[in-house]
Amino acid sequence: MANILEVKNLSIDFKTYAGDVHAIRDVSFELKKGETLAIVGESGSGKSVTVRSIMGLLASNAQVKGGTVKYHGDDLLKKPEKEMNQIRGNEISMIFQDPMTSLDPTMPIGKQVAEPLLIHKAMNKEDAMKRALTVLDLVGIPNAKERMKDYPHQFSGGQRQRIVIAIAIVDYPQVLIADEPTTALDVTVQAQIIDLMKELQRKIETSIIFITHDLGVVAGIADRVAVMYAGKIIEYGLVDEIFYQPKHPYTWGLLNSMPTLDTAGKLEAIPGTPPDLLDPPKGDAFAPRNPYALQIDTEEMPPFFEVSKTHYAATWLLHPDAPQVEPPAAIKTLMAKYDEVAPQKVGQTDGKG
Ligand SMILES: Nc1ncnc2c1ncn2[C@@H]1O[C@H](COP(=O)(O)OP(=O)(O)OP(=O)(O)O)[C@@H](O)[C@H]1O
Ligand SMILES: [Mg+2]
Repeated sequence: MANILEVKNLSIDFKTYAGDVHAIRDVSFELKKGETLAIVGESGSGKSVTVRSIMGLLASNAQVKGGTVKYHGDDLLKKPEKEMNQIRGNEISMIFQDPMTSLDPTMPIGKQVAEPLLIHKAMNKEDAMKRALTVLDLVGIPNAKERMKDYPHQFSGGQRQRIVIAIAIVDYPQVLIADEPTTALDVTVQAQIIDLMKELQRKIETSIIFITHDLGVVAGIADRVAVMYAGKIIEYGLVDEIFYQPKHPYTWGLLNSMPTLDTAGKLEAIPGTPPDLLDPPKGDAFAPRNPYALQIDTEEMPPFFEVSKTHYAATWLLHPDAPQVEPPAAIKTLMAKYDEVAPQKVGQTDGKG
C-alpha cells in the first residue's frame, strides 16, 4: 500500500546560546493510508519536534540539517509557507499537546469548529456550520446543536478535548497527528478519546500519528510503533512485534515500567537520564543507562538490524557475534505470548488490524 507520508533521514538542530542541540538525528519512518503509527519515548526524545517538522511548525531557531518529509511524494520541507498553510489543518491536522489552551475563550465553539472550513475550503457559512455540527456530534458533544453557541468555559475538560479534536478533523484530514492528547485527562476520558480516534479513522479513513509516553495506550490503538530515544528511532515495528518481540534494551525498559490504563500511573522512569543533546554520545545513546551495554555500544552507533521485514532495532545485541543475553523476566513472559497473539498479524501492514 502506498505511503501517504515518508520521513527519511531527518536531522534537526536547534541553535541555542549553549550551542547546537541535536534534537532529531537521522529519523526515518512511513505512514500508510488508514494506519496508526505510535511514536513513544521519554520526555525530550524528539517526538514533538518530529511531528512539528511535518506540520511546518518548527521553532525559529530550528535548522533542518538533512532529510526529507514527503507527503504524497512531495517534500514538505521545501514547500513555501503559503502552500504549507493550505496543507496544514486541512490535509494534515494536529491535536496539540496542550489542548486546553488551543481554544479561543472568546468565540462560540460552533464558530471555532467551522473556521478552518471558511479558511481552507472557502465553504459558505451555512455549510460550514452544518459540517461543524456533524463533527461535534461525531466527537460526542451532547446536544451539539444547542451548544454550538456556548463558549469553551461552559464545557468540561473532556468535552473541550473533544472540541479540539473536532477542529482538527473538520476538514476530514488525510493525516491526523495527536501529540500526547490524553495526559491531562482522567482515565475514563482517556479511554473514550482513544475509542473516538479509532472510530474517526474508520469513518474518514484518516492516517494517524499518535504520540505518547505511555506504551499502555499504544496496544489498543497503533498498527505500528516507533520507539524514540535521544532524537533517534531505536526500534520500529508492528505493534505486536514491539510488545511481544522487543529487541532494544530501551524498549524492554519502557515495557517493564508500563503503566496500565487502570492505574493511570505515570511511566516509572528507567534509572538515569537521557544524554545531553548538545553533545550526544558517539555510540548508542542509551548505553550509560543500559545494563546490557556492550563495549562497542560506547564506541560506535549501532545500525538498524532487520528482525523481520516490518521490524528493525538499532542495538548491537542483534549483531551475529554479540553475546546472547537474557531479557528481564517480564519481557520473557511477554515474548512467550508472541506465538499466541502474533502469527495472523505479522506481515499485515495495511493498518486495518
Ligand atoms: N526551540 C527549541 N530550542 C532548543 N531546543 C529545543 C527546542 N525545541 C525542542 N528542543 C529540544 O529538542 C529535544 C526534543 O524535544 P521534543 O519537544 O521533541 O521532545 P518530546 O519527545 O516531545 O518530549 P515531551 O514528551 O516532553 O513532549 C529536547 O531536548 C528539547 O529540549
Ligand atoms: Mg512533546
